[in-house]
Amino acid sequence: MEKFVITGGKPLRGEVTISGAKNAAVGILPATILAADVCVVENLPDISDVAVSLKILSVLGAQIRMLDRNTYEIDTTHLTGTNVPDDLSRQMRASYYFLGALLSRFGKAQVAMPGGCNLGPRPIDQHLKVFSALGAEDSVDYGMITVRAKELNGAHIFFDKVSVGATMNGMLSAVMAKGQTILENCAKEPHVVDLANFLNMCGADVRGAGTDVIKVRGVEKMHGCTYSIIPDQIEAGSYMVAAAATGGDVLIKNVTPKHLEPITAKLRRAGITVEEFDDAVRVVAKGRLTSTQVKTLPYPGYPTDMQPQIGVVLALAKGTSTITESIFENRFKYLDELARMGANIKVEGNSATIEGVEKFTAARVSAPDLRAGAALCIAGLATEGITIVDDIVYIQRGYERFEEKLRSLGGIIEKVSSEKEIQKFKLKVG
Ligand code: EPZ
Repeated sequence: MEKFVITGGKPLRGEVTISGAKNAAVGILPATILAADVCVVENLPDISDVAVSLKILSVLGAQIRMLDRNTYEIDTTHLTGTNVPDDLSRQMRASYYFLGALLSRFGKAQVAMPGGCNLGPRPIDQHLKVFSALGAEDSVDYGMITVRAKELNGAHIFFDKVSVGATMNGMLSAVMAKGQTILENCAKEPHVVDLANFLNMCGADVRGAGTDVIKVRGVEKMHGCTYSIIPDQIEAGSYMVAAAATGGDVLIKNVTPKHLEPITAKLRRAGITVEEFDDAVRVVAKGRLTSTQVKTLPYPGYPTDMQPQIGVVLALAKGTSTITESIFENRFKYLDELARMGANIKVEGNSATIEGVEKFTAARVSAPDLRAGAALCIAGLATEGITIVDDIVYIQRGYERFEEKLRSLGGIIEKVSSEKEIQKFKLKVG
């Protein structure tokens, strides 16, 4: 089992370039199925969730050519499969997008109940609600979800809950349905807009993405395109927090500053300087950080995917902070790990009260999920001594070249897979 060994306590300094957005990529790759043609997708992050999505496309019959590390040509013309293999669908949450895309093109799809980070119950009733409104029938048998429709007809759907996945699946399944589909109470995240832009480049007619109401006029046929995925808001935010927690000075390049506003606002409240440029932000932290209150909300609120990272900053800030997690009930597991590093935190229901400490102490901790794993590495980088983060397989799902990028900022972090390598690292860093 691979782990990260980290020795911190030094400010991160320098420049880091952000990769393409994971949560856009995992929607756009299944969307290439709708083109039934050749698509070139650029700025794909080199992460395991993208590798799994490409594998699924390939198993379904797509011809895939890697043009460079972040660019793939995907030809879905002769794709025939409609069953996503069980082992692949369970490897990531986003396998549910294959349901919408395959249903739209072939009128049927079978995908295992999706896997992904364990953040508490993650129902997909809102996804099924769209499919059913468009005329599909669904069944769940032995953990396999099957959807089928003779034809899909436009419908008016009001989501009971704001859901990124259901909004994206709504667009995927409606683009070739007959007539108009109106989706209300939609998620407005940047990756929702990115998927809509990709679909429109392939000939779809999707309007309103980025607002509460998305209107989709069904088209008969779509075609291929060349598309470049937006920068990853959460990867960028994670490096912003890494700079803040270590008292560093980092220029974060290839970002859309507008997408980072909820994160920028909170970091400023915590006493950190954030300068915005056209496609970069610079984060400078000096002195002790100050406490603040954070509540996670759908975009443009503060993202749940940045909750553990800001938790690390607040655990080091002067005074009492609170975090309210309103999206996923199981997203505080990292706090137990952070407590092992000396953080002073009480959790009650979906609220955490944090009494900031001056510094953490190094410990061996375990990554409970993707973002929490990144947060614990950031905590390690802010801490003198050797921190070991176990279960880093989660981190590799969503951060391209994580340790390499941190090392380029002066972070001392290495991936190891045995106790012997940990000892070697200890000897090296003294
Ligand atoms: C997406 O998950 C992201 N995953 C998550 O990214 C992210 O945390 C989340 O959106 C919120 O921003 C991908 O894009 C692959 P939701 P998703 O549907 O689509 C409830 C990361 O670290 N809900 O917006 O699964 C749900 O339980 C991660 O990159 C229903 O009740 O999230 C939650 O409380 C992990 N019924 C809320 O809605 C449904 O049918 C929002 O979930 C669907 C969701």
